[in-house]
Amino acid sequence: MRIDPVVRRVVYACTLLVAAALPGAALGAGGDVPLMRAGNDIHNLPSLQRGARNFMNYCAGCHTAQYMRYNRIAQDLDIPEGELKANLMLKGGSVHDTIRNAMKPEDGRKWFGNAPPDLSLIARSRGPDYLYTFLMSYYADPSRPHGVDNRVLPGTAMPHVLAHLQGVQNAVYRTESSPDGSAIKEFERFEAGVPGSLTPAQYEEFVRDTVNFLEYVGEPIQAKRQKLGIWVILFLLVFTTFAYFLKREYWRDVK
Ligand code: HEC
Repeated sequence: MRIDPVVRRVVYACTLLVAAALPGAALGAGGDVPLMRAGNDIHNLPSLQRGARNFMNYCAGCHTAQYMRYNRIAQDLDIPEGELKANLMLKGGSVHDTIRNAMKPEDGRKWFGNAPPDLSLIARSRGPDYLYTFLMSYYADPSRPHGVDNRVLPGTAMPHVLAHLQGVQNAVYRTESSPDGSAIKEFERFEAGVPGSLTPAQYEEFVRDTVNFLEYVGEPIQAKRQKLGIWVILFLLVFTTFAYFLKREYWRDVK
């Protein structure tokens, strides 16, 4: 049977639309670990400012964000230049620099076994929920070189760099028998272990802010784009009203 080219194109377009509409989580990273909801909000400026501070203090020592410039952050997040230099540009440099002054990839590989990836686009590729869950999922595992492992990225080369804030939680397992009778360990939950300097709620906020900042870095224009989008839609509504009355005017005499 010959399919009409127009029909074929419509079917293609519909398939693309459906694929684009599939929830990101279904395609997101994280394997079979259910992801927690980051619940971050890129319109929340104080959260983004805190996230920038967290990132510079706790992540930029190892990770770059090479597509982001310091002065762009200052401009977008309403941070005065003095504060930017004092609190965020911990290694000096020019405000026009990109965030690159982390370790060299070969040193990363030598020290950790794997180079810390650039984080500019990590929120785009992994999704904020993944990043949130990743930073919430370190737990004590004495068999690992750093004494911890991660549920989301088992065997990860990244140490639990926030351990003094979160503390180190323990993973609790339950034993289930598989169909062939052998026992399997199923992860059940995390429970408090060594305490950190933050309460669980404070740590969640710390991670949410950091993830928020990473989402902003992944698409700095996002907040502006969404604001602009509302104006565009309002304009289209007003324009449609005018167009409708104009159409009525034109067709009034055509009877
Ligand atoms: C001591 C160095 C170091 C610091 C500090 C550090 N990381 Fe990492 N990070 C690494 C290394 C090494 C890897 C590569 C891990 C791997 O491939 O197993 C990594 C990987 C990652 C990944 C990728 C995970 C994946 O799924 O591939 C993310 C996301 C990440 N880090 C976020 C952060 C954030 C956010 C911070 C700050 C809170 C941070 N890192 C601080 C060393 C570090």
